Amino acid sequence: MGIIRRVASPPIRTDRRRLLGLTAALAAGASLPLEALAQPRWRFDPFGLGVASGSPSDEGMVLWTRLVSPGPLASLGNAPIPVRWELAHDEAFAHIARRGETLASADLAHSVHVEVQGLEPDRWYFYRFLSGGVSSPVGRTRTLPAPGAAVSRLRLAYASCQRWEHGHYAAYRHMQAEGLDLVLFLGDYIYEYPNATAAVRNFPTLATVITLADYRDRHAMHRSDPHLQAMHAACPWLLTWDDHEVQNDYANGLPGTGGPMDIGGTDDFAARRSAAYQAYYEHMPLRASAFVRAMSPGAGHAIRLYEHYRYGRLADVLMLDSRQFRDAQVCGPAAHRSSLVDPALCPALDDPARTYLGDAQERWLDGALARAPGTWSIIGQQTLFGRRDNRPGPGERLWNDGWDGYGAARRRVTDSLQRHRVRNPVMLGGDVHENWVGHIKADYRRPDSPSLGVEFCGTSITSRAAHGASAPQRLSENPHFIFAEGTRRGYGVCEFTPRSLTTTLRVLDDATRADARLETLARFEVQAGRPVVERA
Ligand SMILES: [Fe+2]
Repeated sequence: MGIIRRVASPPIRTDRRRLLGLTAALAAGASLPLEALAQPRWRFDPFGLGVASGSPSDEGMVLWTRLVSPGPLASLGNAPIPVRWELAHDEAFAHIARRGETLASADLAHSVHVEVQGLEPDRWYFYRFLSGGVSSPVGRTRTLPAPGAAVSRLRLAYASCQRWEHGHYAAYRHMQAEGLDLVLFLGDYIYEYPNATAAVRNFPTLATVITLADYRDRHAMHRSDPHLQAMHAACPWLLTWDDHEVQNDYANGLPGTGGPMDIGGTDDFAARRSAAYQAYYEHMPLRASAFVRAMSPGAGHAIRLYEHYRYGRLADVLMLDSRQFRDAQVCGPAAHRSSLVDPALCPALDDPARTYLGDAQERWLDGALARAPGTWSIIGQQTLFGRRDNRPGPGERLWNDGWDGYGAARRRVTDSLQRHRVRNPVMLGGDVHENWVGHIKADYRRPDSPSLGVEFCGTSITSRAAHGASAPQRLSENPHFIFAEGTRRGYGVCEFTPRSLTTTLRVLDDATRADARLETLARFEVQAGRPVVERA
């Protein structure tokens, strides 16, 4: 930030009345007259939040940016702002593949979501946005291989839980050197809390996030980090969320804890959730069709995040959303939704009537698994999939907010994996702020039941772990897991080939330092056709 990247294009003064007329015409379905829209003159860099790409297909992707002013003294106003975009084969933009113009409107926080189509499969492209003669940073993105194409390699990172005040995004500084095709972000992109105790990074006015303006500010704060911006600019991201994009432990329309909408509170959680969902859409490279606005005042906004991405014949990537449609957590204390629960005293944990994904998504997932022809079937979702007893010694304690709190719903997923003979399932998750590696079991209560696939649940980018030191102790209670480490922050890298998967757990020596060094915690190998994960 700070440097304004001027490009050769004569600035034209904005004629506000003409612009408003054009906006009305566009809203009425008219096509965009490219040269008719006047460009603003910027006295600051409006691209301070960087660029991003996502929702890739074999012929396109979504390009994202959001125009922002550098502070309260400079305003973008309420008029829509024309933004041009360019997608090129080369970084110098000598060979343009596509270009166009769109409007950044104030009602969506001047965010821009361009859906590029008609591109060649399996190609890297460069993109940038232009407004008033100022250029955004240049991003790099790619199309997916054609569905039937033979592909020799897919290299992706999985990451989650990046509480801003808990550390520096050194993980993203290092991730840029990994040579990735995709990043899977698996939840807790922002945290809605007021300032953390013993904050590593301080922001002067960090209060609980409630309103649309609050959620926008919180996203902008996270996205102001240069390393996060650079990683978004490096390759497309596939995104899902967990609870903190809205509120700790919320469940569908039910509030969780934190802020005035605590359990038992009378405030309007539906309005808060809608504000959070809108701000999420405004800051992520999602298709416009993914954001479903409420049609009536009583209804809330929705976002479609579950999606099936095909990576040639090599892999299918299924992204899930276990927050938006779930039933409430059960058996927790009155003041909390999430807690450790004794399964012997809580038969509701396994109640088949309870849902984790919602009926529609569950049916969609079953159908998608039936039609996943790739060698690897990658499922990107929020949290630890395998059953995990957290109590060392006799007795059991399960975390009721994750899959363990929805045992029958998990069983329906493993039943789908078996029924459709899904090829090489690989479950990726986050949320627990610890690295866990293990096997997907047909029946987690029977160690001798078949292994259906493998699981890698990743640690956090920065968020602290509450009980990380006890991970090895808890590992011994759960034989379907082969590895657990809870004290290190970082991310995982998966390299898929037609024959094997290699997963490398990357960790920082100290996530509270901006200059943190990267280390390899462990590496694991899985051979295609054999659902066994082994430490390399
Ligand atoms: Fe988290």
